[in-house]
Amino acid sequence: MNSPSPAGQNGGDSQASIKRGLWSSRMAFILAATGSAVGLGNIWKFPYITGENGGGAFVLVYLLCIAVVGLPIMMAEILIGRRGGASPIRSMRTLTERDGHNPAWRITAVVGVLAAFLILSFYSVIGGWAVSYIGTSASGELVGKSAEAIGGIFSGLLGNPWTLLGWHTLFMALVMFVVGRGLRGGLERAVTILMPALFVLLLIVVGYAMTTGHFGEGVAFLFQPDFSKLTTAGVLVALGHAFFTLSLGMAVMMAYGSYLSKNVSIVKTSIVVSVMDTGVALLAGLAIFPIVFANGLEPGAGPGLIFQTLPLAFGQMPWGSLFGTLFFILLTFAAWTSAISLLEPVVEWLEEKKGMTRVSSTVGAGIACWLLGIASILSLNVWSDVTPLGMFAMFEGKTIFDLLDFVTASIMLPLAGLLVAVFAGWIMTREALESELAMPAGGFSLWYNTIRYVTPIAVAVVFIYNLV
Ligand code: TRP
Repeated sequence: MNSPSPAGQNGGDSQASIKRGLWSSRMAFILAATGSAVGLGNIWKFPYITGENGGGAFVLVYLLCIAVVGLPIMMAEILIGRRGGASPIRSMRTLTERDGHNPAWRITAVVGVLAAFLILSFYSVIGGWAVSYIGTSASGELVGKSAEAIGGIFSGLLGNPWTLLGWHTLFMALVMFVVGRGLRGGLERAVTILMPALFVLLLIVVGYAMTTGHFGEGVAFLFQPDFSKLTTAGVLVALGHAFFTLSLGMAVMMAYGSYLSKNVSIVKTSIVVSVMDTGVALLAGLAIFPIVFANGLEPGAGPGLIFQTLPLAFGQMPWGSLFGTLFFILLTFAAWTSAISLLEPVVEWLEEKKGMTRVSSTVGAGIACWLLGIASILSLNVWSDVTPLGMFAMFEGKTIFDLLDFVTASIMLPLAGLLVAVFAGWIMTREALESELAMPAGGFSLWYNTIRYVTPIAVAVVFIYNLV
């Protein structure tokens, strides 16, 4: 949600004199990080992958991944960023040069920037769906519709590449607009209101879900683990999603950390961000699955799940068109603030590496991403049978859209995360880590052992299992 170049200039803060400026407050950092973390990953992706992977057991693995992999790595990324005090690639270089480590560690940030670019290309397409549902809802088109009719509206949208292209273009333009201007003030303030509003609206839908008579079934689906439904591929998806939803593995938190004041606790802020992010995802699940069961829908319906269930709920509840419109506005906003944090590292990299201006790097990166997004759009309709890497068992049946999602979320993010964990746990000095984290000794040892052993081993094991 926020450009990693805020604060400082609004004075007041005694640290503002430091060259690059800092977040105006701890709250500003939390909001920026939460704005990046809470997005389509929580409301669109989490419910549909949970549905596809059988529910409870998957959710449990996902929560475990957040706690033992996601949270420790978030702390490591923020810590590296703050210590490096520059853009991610430069921070990694500073840290390696200053302390005499191998400069090749920079590759961590490079993988991140590339992943950001690939993710944004399809993220913007889904963001476009959210924008289009603002109109669908506002026009009253959803009122009193059957599950079938609602499904028809959604497949109508997916079947039309031109409509999809229009919404994708609009969404990408919104993202480029903010990034190109170097955001700050306005957006930071807007998010202070919009994020809590999204939370409240989710609660309203959960309230509606309670009236469907199938709430218990939804809760059981989410929280009663049935391990027979869990596959090793499902574990990889859960692990990848922990990175995706917390915006890790891509140097976003590193960039944000570089503007964090020394006297803010990295530990506490990381916990707050992770808890809020997980809370939104679980609420989305509680809102969606009771509606799925009440209407005899399929939990494993795939990427269209929320666009087939939530509109149904809005079509039936009192004031539904109003709530629905508001909901999709807020979803668009959540997606927007996350997408900004995806474009930002690419733009920063172009500015720093190629010496381009802010505007031209935004336009260049945005258009390239927009072009790649067209491949995702076509894979939803015209190219729905095209599976470019289908000859490899691992990629069997995956369209371009599926491939981009899988390669980024399930491979690149965990890989970059693994590198961050090894760099923080094994390369950086213990003193440096201790001074950044400023935790009580017991807490520090817990984190240190986790990042040195548990995190890398967990990621490596899940990877190796899926390769063989
Ligand atoms: N976390 C966002 C979501 O859940 C997506 C996102 C934004 C992201 N920035 C990121 C994912 C950086 C990985 C890395 O929707």
